Amino acid sequence: MSDHDINLTVNGRKVARRVPARRTLLDFLRADLGLTGTHAGCEHGVCGACTVMIDGVAMRSCLTFAVQMDGHAVTTVEGVAHEDGSFHPVQQALHDNHGLQCGFCTPGIVMSLLSMTEGEQKASRAEILDAMSGHICRCTGYQGLHKAIAQLTEANHD
Ligand code: FES
Ligand code: FES
Repeated sequence: MSDHDINLTVNGRKVARRVPARRTLLDFLRADLGLTGTHAGCEHGVCGACTVMIDGVAMRSCLTFAVQMDGHAVTTVEGVAHEDGSFHPVQQALHDNHGLQCGFCTPGIVMSLLSMTEGEQKASRAEILDAMSGHICRCTGYQGLHKAIAQLTEANHD
């Protein structure tokens, strides 16, 4: 199997590595970079636990090869909180509304919420709720998550 040199940005830091062609981004983040906040659930694109942001867009890292990330910017849940350690508003909303229980699904949900609430084009509450159908949570019953989304979108007057 051939290896490839890749240069990318992860959580704002430049990273250069040599990776096998078939290594997933999920395995690269967890095993090569030690960023274990990105969780491995189903590993075939169903559960959403592995979601990260690639160039600002939420994507499944289990369905993405590390070699595809050459020249791109990846953000994981480790890169979400503010530099002083305080929560990002997405994390704060989940915290305030008991939007998590065991936390296994949470990093992926944080990344999807982040990608839909940052930047100029903010998604509506309905659009965010629709996107949450791509995340499976075994614990919460989703009610806390819905309340967190309501808190997040209040500022958008939606
Ligand atoms: S681990 Fe990637 S979608 Fe489930
Ligand atoms: S909080 Fe446990 S799986 Fe979602």
